[in-house]
Amino acid sequence: MRLRSVECLLIVSVFVFIICVPCMIFSSVSFGQERKIDALYLELDKKYRIPEQWTVLPFELEDPYKRIKNGPPLVNIMSKARVEWISRWIANPKKVVPNAKMPNLGLDFEEIKAVIAYLASIAEKEAPQISWDPFLLKNEEELSEDEYDKMDKVYNNGKGVWGRARCTICHPIKGVGGNVGVGPDLGEITTKINRNWLYDWLSNTKNHFPDTMMAQYRFTDADVRGVVEFIMRDTQFIPEEKEEEDEDEGQPKEPLPAETEVKVLTEQEFGNIRKDNALIEKGRDVVEKARCFVCHDIKGIPEIMPVVEKKRDGLAGFEKLLYEIRCLSCHRIQDNGGTYAPNLTIAGSKIKMLWEREFLQVPDIIRPLSQQMPKFNLAEDEAGVATEYMEKNLIVKEGLPDFYKEGALSPEIIAAGEKLFYEKGCNVCHSESITKGGGVVGPSLATVGDRLQPAYILYHLQNPQRANPQAIEPNFGLSEADLRQLVGFLVDHVKKKEGK
Ligand code: HEC
Ligand code: HEC
Ligand code: HEC
Ligand code: HEC
Repeated sequence: MRLRSVECLLIVSVFVFIICVPCMIFSSVSFGQERKIDALYLELDKKYRIPEQWTVLPFELEDPYKRIKNGPPLVNIMSKARVEWISRWIANPKKVVPNAKMPNLGLDFEEIKAVIAYLASIAEKEAPQISWDPFLLKNEEELSEDEYDKMDKVYNNGKGVWGRARCTICHPIKGVGGNVGVGPDLGEITTKINRNWLYDWLSNTKNHFPDTMMAQYRFTDADVRGVVEFIMRDTQFIPEEKEEEDEDEGQPKEPLPAETEVKVLTEQEFGNIRKDNALIEKGRDVVEKARCFVCHDIKGIPEIMPVVEKKRDGLAGFEKLLYEIRCLSCHRIQDNGGTYAPNLTIAGSKIKMLWEREFLQVPDIIRPLSQQMPKFNLAEDEAGVATEYMEKNLIVKEGLPDFYKEGALSPEIIAAGEKLFYEKGCNVCHSESITKGGGVVGPSLATVGDRLQPAYILYHLQNPQRANPQAIEPNFGLSEADLRQLVGFLVDHVKKKEGK
C-alpha cells in the first residue's frame, strides 16, 4: 500500500509538472509581461499587408515624400547660387524664401564665411556652359529695337510653356500658389541662380538632385530657352521694391523697430577667402557640428547613417516614367505619394484608356479649380506604357458591376437621367455641357462618357466616399432605377455631341 501511494504521489507530481510548468512558462511569456513589437516589424507589416481589393504591383513604388535627405545635395552649390544669396540663406532661411523648410541654425558671420569657403572647396563640377545669343545677355535698356523684338519672342514663348507646364501648382510666387506644397517660392529666384544653371536644371533635373520631387519635363531646347528668358526677365521673379510696398498702405506707418543688420558675404570678399585653407578647415568643422548632413548629402563629412544611393540605372517602362516625371509627387497609388491630384490606385477600373493615352500627352482641363495636370510632353510610347500599366495593375480585383455592358441606351433612359440630374442638384457642382453651364466644385461632366468607364460612374454614384473618403459629393442614396438612369445619361456625354 505504501509503495502504491508513493507511486501515486509520483504520478500526480509528474502530472502536475507536465501540466503546470509549461502553463507557468507560457503565462510568464505570453501573459505575464507586455509583448514588445519591434517598430521596424510594424512598419514592414504595414508596407506589405495591402488591402485585399488592391492588386500586388510588379515593382515596389518609390514614394518621393519619403526621401532620406530633404535638402538638396550641396556639392555643387557654388555654381547654382550666388555667394550673397547663400550667405543670407544660411543666416536665416525664412527671411530669404517665405516657405523655406531649413531651420535657422544660429551661425554667426564668421562661421557662415567658413562654411561657404568649405562648400566651395568640395565642388566636383564646373558650372554648366551654355551658349546664348549675345543680345539675350544684355539688360533691357541696352537692347536695340530689333534685339528687343527677338528677345520678346523668346520670352513670350517661354511664358506659354511656363503656363502649360503649371510650374505654379508646386511653386508659390511671393506666397501665392504652390498648392501641391512641395516647391520653394520662386518670387526672388533671380537673386539666387544664373541662367546657365537654370537651363541645365530644366534640361537635366535629376542630374542635379537625383531624389528631387520635381518632374523631368520633356522640354525641347527652345522650350527651355523660353522658360529661362521668362524667369530671368519677368518682374514676378525679382524682389518687390520696398518703396512700392509703403505707397500701398494708406495709413502712415509706425516706425518699425530697427532691424539688426545681417552681414552678407560679398562676391569680392569671397574671392579673397576661397583658398584660405585654415578657414576651409574651420568650415568643415562647423558643418560637422551643425549637423548639416542630417538633411544634406555633403561629400567628405562622416555620417552616422551613411546614405545608400538608390540604384536607378536599370529602370524601365512605367517605373522609369514614375521616377522621371515624379507622378507620385501629386498622385497617390496604394499607400504611396501625395494627395493633391486624383488617387490612381484604381485608375485602370475608372478611366477609359483611349482617353487616358490622349490626356497624358496633352492634358485637358477637367477640374477647373487650380487643380490641373501639367503638360509634361510625354511621347506617345510613354503614354502607352503608362496606360498599359494602369489597365493591368491599377484595378479593382473583383471587377465592378455594369448596367450597360450589353444593350444600347434608350432615349427614354437618357431623358429620365437628365431630369434626375437637375432634380437632385448635380448641376450645383458639375456642368454637364459647356453650353449649359453649372457648378465648378466638381469636375466638368461634358465628356464624362469618353473619360470614365460606365461601371465606375455607377460605383461612384452608389457611394462617392467609397473611392475617395474625402469626397464632398453627398451620398444621395440613389435607388437602382435612379442609378440606371443617371449612369445612362452620363455615359451618353461624349465628345462628338459637344457643341451640338
Ligand atoms: C533640418 C534639415 C536641414 C539642416 C540641418 C540643414 N539644412 Fe540646408 N536645407 C534644408 C532644406 C529642406 C533645404 C531646401 C530649401 C528649403 O528649405 O525649402 C536646404 C537648403 C540649403 C541650401 C540651398 C541649397 C540649394 O540647392 O538651393 C544651402 C546652401 C544649405 N541648405 C546649407 C546648409 C548648411 C551649410 C547647413 C549646416 C550648417 C544646413 N543647410 C543644414 C534643410 C536643412
Ligand atoms: C511636382 C512639383 C513641381 C513642379 C510641377 C515644378 N517644380 Fe520646380 N521644383 C520642385 C521642387 C520640390 C524643387 C526643389 C527640389 C526638391 O526639393 O526636390 C524644385 C526646384 C526648382 C527650382 C530651383 C529653385 C531653388 O531655389 O533651388 C527651379 C528654378 C524650378 N524648380 C523651376 C520650375 C519650373 C520652371 C517649373 C515648370 C516648368 C517647375 N519648377 C515645376 C517641384 C516642382
Ligand atoms: C504636378 C502634379 C502632377 C504630376 C507630377 C502628375 N499629375 Fe496626373 N494629374 C494631376 C492633376 C492636378 C490631375 C487632375 C486634372 C484635372 O482634373 O483637370 C491629374 C490627372 C491625372 C489623371 C486622370 C485622373 C482622374 O481620375 O481623372 C491621370 C490618369 C494622371 N493624372 C496620370 C498621371 C501620370 C501617369 C503621371 C506621371 C507620368 C502624372 N499624372 C503626373 C497632377 C499631376
Ligand atoms: C456638393 C457638390 C457635388 C454634388 C451635389 C455632386 N457632385 Fe459629383 N463630384 C463632386 C466632386 C467635388 C467630385 C470630384 C471628386 C474628385 O475630384 O475626384 C465629383 C465627382 C463626380 C463624378 C466622378 C468624376 C471623376 O472624374 O472622378 C461623377 C460621375 C459625379 N460626380 C456625378 C455626380 C452626379 C450624377 C451628381 C448628382 C446625383 C453629383 N455628382 C453631385 C461634387 C459634387
